[in-house]
Amino acid sequence: MTQPLPPPPTPAPDAFDLAGLMAGRPVLWTPAQGLACPVHDEAAETLSAAAIESARQRLQRFAPLLAVLFEGLQASEGQIESPLQRVPALQSALGLPPEQGSLWVKADHLLPVAGSVKARGGTHEVIEFAETLALQHGLISPGGDYRHLASPAARALFAQYTVAVGSTGNLGLAIGTMAAALGFRAEVHMSADAKAWKKARLRSRGVNVVEHAGDYADAVAAGRAVAAADPHCHFVDDERSTSLFLGYAAAASHLAAQLAEAGRPVDAEHPLFVYLPCGVGGAPGGVAYGLHQIFGPHVHAIFAEPTASPCFLVQQLADWPGMPASGPHPSVYDLGLDNRTEADGLAVPRASTLAAAAVGQQLAGVFTVQDETLMRQLWQAQATEGLRIEPSAAAGLSGPQRLLNTPQGQAYLEQQGLTRHMGQSTHIAWLTGGMLMPEADYQGFLQRGQASDVTKHPSP
Ligand SMILES: Cc1ncc(COP(=O)(O)O)c(C=O)c1O
Repeated sequence: MTQPLPPPPTPAPDAFDLAGLMAGRPVLWTPAQGLACPVHDEAAETLSAAAIESARQRLQRFAPLLAVLFEGLQASEGQIESPLQRVPALQSALGLPPEQGSLWVKADHLLPVAGSVKARGGTHEVIEFAETLALQHGLISPGGDYRHLASPAARALFAQYTVAVGSTGNLGLAIGTMAAALGFRAEVHMSADAKAWKKARLRSRGVNVVEHAGDYADAVAAGRAVAAADPHCHFVDDERSTSLFLGYAAAASHLAAQLAEAGRPVDAEHPLFVYLPCGVGGAPGGVAYGLHQIFGPHVHAIFAEPTASPCFLVQQLADWPGMPASGPHPSVYDLGLDNRTEADGLAVPRASTLAAAAVGQQLAGVFTVQDETLMRQLWQAQATEGLRIEPSAAAGLSGPQRLLNTPQGQAYLEQQGLTRHMGQSTHIAWLTGGMLMPEADYQGFLQRGQASDVTKHPSP
C-alpha cells in the first residue's frame, strides 16, 4: 500500500508571496525574503557621486537661461524644484500612527515646466545635448553667460536637430516642452494606450507625436530605430540613458537640504523611508541612487508599482525558484500579467537594466498596488491636504502601511534593527505628477476614489 504524500510545506508568514504577485494581488518584497537578482549594465559603472554633482552644476549653469525661457521659473530663478511638505491629516487617513514616524510628501506633482518627476531627468538630458552642441559651435564658452542660448543664432543651430523620445506620456511632456523652448524640433513616440490629453497637449506645442500600436516598450524601440537612422536626431532613451538618470539623482542634494531645514535628521537612530512610484525605474532609481550617495544605509528606498505592471519587482526576482522568467531580463507578461493600469506612467512591461544594476541591490523593498487603492489614495490626498495628484503619483502612499502592517515589512524592520527607532523616522511619499491633468479626468478619478469606501477596504 502506498503511503499518502505529506502535505506541501506551508510558507512562513513573512515569505515572499510569488503566487500573489502572479495573481495580481498586492505584495511586498524586501531583501529579508531573499536577495535580488544581480544585474550587469556597463553604463551603470559610469555613475558616481561626482557624475551627480556635475549634473547638478549643469542645472545651475542653465538656471538663468531657463528663467528667461519659462515665465513659471522666474520666481525660482530657473530652479526646477518642489516643496517638501508635512502632511499630518493624510498621515492619519492612511493609518500611520505618530509613534511610527512622521509622513511627508515630496511635491513633484507641482514641479514647474512639466508637472512631473520626469521634468528632472528630461530637462537635464536636453540641456546637456544643447550645451554639447553650443560648445562645439562656439556659441558659449565654459563659465560664460548661458542666456546667449536664447539668441537667434543659437536657435537657428538647435532648429537643425530633433530631440526624440519614447514615452508613456510624462517624459514626452518634459522633453517636448524643454526641447521646443530651446528651439529644437521635438518628436515623441507614444504607445496606443497613452492618455489622449497628453498627446493633445504635446501636439498643441508643436511636438510631432508618433503613435505606436504596441505598449511603451514597443514605442521606445520604434523611436530608437527611427533616431538611429538620422544623424541630426538625439534620442532620449528612457530605458538606458545615464543623463536622464543623473538628472533625477540631482534631486537628492536638494532634498537633503530641505530635510535639514525642516529639522529632520537622517542617521542610524533617525531612519528615512522614501516611497517612489516606479515605471521603467529611471526616475525612482536615480532619486534612490542619489539619496544613497548622501545618506548611505540610513535611507530605505522602496519602489511602488501597479499589480498589473510590476516590472522592477519581476527584474529583482528574475532568478527566483518558481519564477516564470524568460531569461535575465524578464517582462510582466511572462507572469501572465497584462500591464493594464490607470497609472499610465507606470505601465511598463520591462525594467531598465541601468536602473536595476544601479540600485537593485540597495533597495529596501518593492511593493505592488491595485488601481482601486490608487484611486482611493488619490482622493484621500485631495480630501485631507488638497493635493492634486495623478494615479501614478498615488502609488507610494501605501508604503508606510505595507512596511508596518505586513509580516514581510516587519521582518525587514527587525532584520535592520529599525523597530525601536520608528518613532523618530521620516517617511516621504514622492508625489510624482498631477499638475497638468485636465479637470475632467481628475474629477473622474476623484469620484472613483471616493466611491471606494475606506471602511470597506481597510487593507491594500
Ligand atoms: C507620474 C509618474 N510617476 C512615476 C513615473 C516613473 O518613472 P520611471 O518610468 O522612470 O520609473 C512616471 C513615468 O513616466 C510618471 O509619469
